[in-house]
Amino acid sequence: MSNTQTVLVKSDDPAVFSAVSQALSEVEGFRVIFCEDDRSALRRLDEIDVDLVLCDLARNVSERDNALIRSRLSHASCARIIAFERDAMEEGIAMFERTASFMYLIKPLDPRQVRIVVKRTLEHAELARRHRILSRELKLSLDDDIFRREPSGSVAGGVSRFERLVYASPKMAELVAEAKTAARTNMPILIQGETGTGKELLARAIHFNSARMHSPMHSQNCGGVSDEALHSELFGHVRGGFPGAISDRLGLFRAADGGTVFLDEISEISPQFQVALLRFLQEGEVKPLGSDRVLNSDVRIISASNKSLEKRVEQGRFRRDLYYRLRGFILEIPPLRERPEDIPVLTQFFVEKYAGVVGRRVLGVASDVVRQLEHYSFPGNVRELETEVQRMVAVAEQGGYIALRHLSDKIRRAAAPEPRSAGWMPEGATLKEKVESLEKMMLKRALAEHHWNQSRVAEELGLSRVGLANKIKRYGLRRDASHG
Ligand SMILES: Nc1ncnc2c1ncn2[C@@H]1O[C@H](COP(=O)(O)OP(=O)(O)OP(=O)(O)O)[C@@H](O)[C@H]1O
Ligand SMILES: [Mg+2]
Repeated sequence: MSNTQTVLVKSDDPAVFSAVSQALSEVEGFRVIFCEDDRSALRRLDEIDVDLVLCDLARNVSERDNALIRSRLSHASCARIIAFERDAMEEGIAMFERTASFMYLIKPLDPRQVRIVVKRTLEHAELARRHRILSRELKLSLDDDIFRREPSGSVAGGVSRFERLVYASPKMAELVAEAKTAARTNMPILIQGETGTGKELLARAIHFNSARMHSPMHSQNCGGVSDEALHSELFGHVRGGFPGAISDRLGLFRAADGGTVFLDEISEISPQFQVALLRFLQEGEVKPLGSDRVLNSDVRIISASNKSLEKRVEQGRFRRDLYYRLRGFILEIPPLRERPEDIPVLTQFFVEKYAGVVGRRVLGVASDVVRQLEHYSFPGNVRELETEVQRMVAVAEQGGYIALRHLSDKIRRAAAPEPRSAGWMPEGATLKEKVESLEKMMLKRALAEHHWNQSRVAEELGLSRVGLANKIKRYGLRRDASHG
């Protein structure tokens, strides 16, 4: 781990390589990666965390392959600088605007200018990042004002609310009661539940019902993030060893001091990072990378996982001591199919929400539509229901009811509830046939649940990826297009 800044340079001009190498030295904390063409630049962007890209104006490169254009969309937080010859000014400036680059450089490059421009660009990017953190927080608190107009926890026609969570089922009522108790304490909270069950929404509700509500809540997704990036996002880092300089990165633990930090997909952190997090939870101390100063931070950690952390502990993939630290309280959100009472109220809620958004008048939802929704198993849980309703509102006739014909095929076809009751027996005459039919059903369900993410399914079922692929082939299972 280090506090280096990674700069990716795309150019096939040796003079550019030479100027940049002179300008940005490793001692000063720059790691420079050179790529000769757009394709390799894009590949590198996906492989490593890049802070800044400096691209020579691309010629004879299709838009699809243009690293600067593409990075604007796919790596939005990465700062961009474009370089071109004076005689390509028109084209260069057009591309500069097009890619929302921060600065342009005219070739031949002057190493001193490159140094200054790169530094300023990175400082600007960090300021923009802090600004994003703060405005997001402000926006969220405004949103919450809107929601506050209706008193939280209000019950109208059997519908209850906990901040933005809408529910009617006894299971959710029980969970919300637990969450409120947990909110009043200072203990860490672990939220578990399948994808789309509302873990993040619950985390927010807890924050806004805690004594920390007037301090910030910041979220960090831990899945697919390198240790280095995670460390600098959470603990921050100092550049060039002068603490407080603008080019330092303010970590979320410090930014949320007094408030809450939400760590999503906590099961995904590496063993090394588990140690760092454990230490933070024990000491409450933050030492930004590259700094000797130890700062204090008082935050409550709410973490979330769509996998059982306990199972991970048993498999030796997650530290037991950290697990115990995180689960001061453990809240399990049940999957939507286990609380069908929530389906009608959520449907109604989303109809109002989306009819409002698109300015459509929808009179209501026909009762057979609701019944059909109640029969469907919602592998994507509330998020899937929300998307379904959003789509139905969009296709329904102005001023009419939402009817069966507006339902998507996969839900309309889910007429008979899937066999999952205790009395169900697998088909087949012999034991072998019965076992195979059971295996096939379990595979189908797991694949649907994980949207055909085969690594996840393999992991859940304890199979190798190859083993899973073989079974999929053997049973002729295919991804249903309508399942997205
Ligand atoms: N009880 C609820 N009431 C209203 N909206 C809900 C409820 N539960 C979930 N949602 C909505 O469903 C979507 C998914 O919720 P959220 O992002 O909190 O789920 P999640 O459990 O964090 O999912 P993932 O594991 O995929 O990150 C959001 O749009 C959220 O607003
Ligand atoms: Mg989430």
